[in-house]
Amino acid sequence: MIKESNILINLNESILNEVPTKDMEVFYNPIMQINRDLSCLLLYSLKKMGHRIENIALPTCGSGIRGIRFLKNIENLKIYFNDLNPKAIDSVKENLKINNLLEKKENYELSINDANLFLLNNKFDYIDIDPFGSPNPFLQSAILSLTHDGILAVTATDTAAFCGTYPRATLRKYFSKSIRTPYMHEFGIRILIKHIIEIASQFEIAMIPIFYHSNDHYFRVYLKKLKSKSRTLELIKEIKNVEVDDKNNFFIKELGESYTIGPMYVGKLKRFEGLFEEMNKNKDLLNLDKKSIKLFSKINEELDEFCFYNLHEISRNNSTNPISIKKVIENTKATRTHFCDNSVKIENKEELFNFIEKNSNVNKKD
Ligand SMILES: C[S@@+](CC[C@H](N)C(=O)[O-])C[C@H]1O[C@@H](n2cnc3c(N)ncnc32)[C@H](O)[C@@H]1O
Repeated sequence: MIKESNILINLNESILNEVPTKDMEVFYNPIMQINRDLSCLLLYSLKKMGHRIENIALPTCGSGIRGIRFLKNIENLKIYFNDLNPKAIDSVKENLKINNLLEKKENYELSINDANLFLLNNKFDYIDIDPFGSPNPFLQSAILSLTHDGILAVTATDTAAFCGTYPRATLRKYFSKSIRTPYMHEFGIRILIKHIIEIASQFEIAMIPIFYHSNDHYFRVYLKKLKSKSRTLELIKEIKNVEVDDKNNFFIKELGESYTIGPMYVGKLKRFEGLFEEMNKNKDLLNLDKKSIKLFSKINEELDEFCFYNLHEISRNNSTNPISIKKVIENTKATRTHFCDNSVKIENKEELFNFIEKNSNVNKKD
């Protein structure tokens, strides 16, 4: 039996010592607890805010752990568990049983189907795409199957295809150029968001980014659906390219100008008013792992600005000794960022560079 947060799942504990692979009889990855924790926090908070969320789709549900956690912690939900693997659905049944949820038949449905067929036959207020690797095969069906104002949650574990390790894969799968830079995780998430926005845009649907994280080996993004031509166009206008020079300075470029990375979404990422405040209020109520709370707090704290400045990079370029991040944060309007250690986000770049210039010593070695 494995315990995660306040629920049990009927899998052999020995799998905790294995590297999770596609070949497992029923897939379970303990590292993804943070991912599941933060989805519980987001759903719980949206419900508290009065956002209508009743029908939840888990098209690739595996052991059902995410849905069981939702049912245990959040009221008035109906979870639609689906997986192509019949053994996964057997395991969902067992897991519902050991968590005393099997009898509550009005709260769930089970199906064994291809995720796209499952999605296109129904309408849902929240859809969680959590596949092996790229979410691409399921994005269009998920966007079309969401209700107005519905929430799409997407995990992508093919981060190498976003971060410049395999630039040809980025081009093929996400129609963007990418190279490895200190900013690759933020740029990767922004390329994924761009891709989702573009798929939705052809149906005059605006997918508005509301929450995101990059950690361990994956990206996770959440977007809200709006059927609106004007909002669609507004999002498309925020898709741009980026130039990163040989000193790792970055510049947003208009489409048509020369660039090294992109296109990507360069707009705001926290676009659901009040959501972060509500999540912050609720973060200690749901038996979340300390690591999840810490990650949320970092994202909550980080300014919603495009990209960040790496303090090592700046001191190397200026031949100065590194300045402490604590000192920068205490004396400017900069914040840390969860995307990269020793880096800060700030609205006014000049404020940061002036502070560093005045407060760092010239490196005597140079
Ligand atoms: C990464 S696992 C899901 C993990 C699960 N969400 C969790 O939190 O533990 C991916 C799941 O997708 C299922 N799957 C793969 N291809 C599928 C398809 N075309 N339709 C439905 N399920 C599929 C697999 O059987 C596997 O259970």
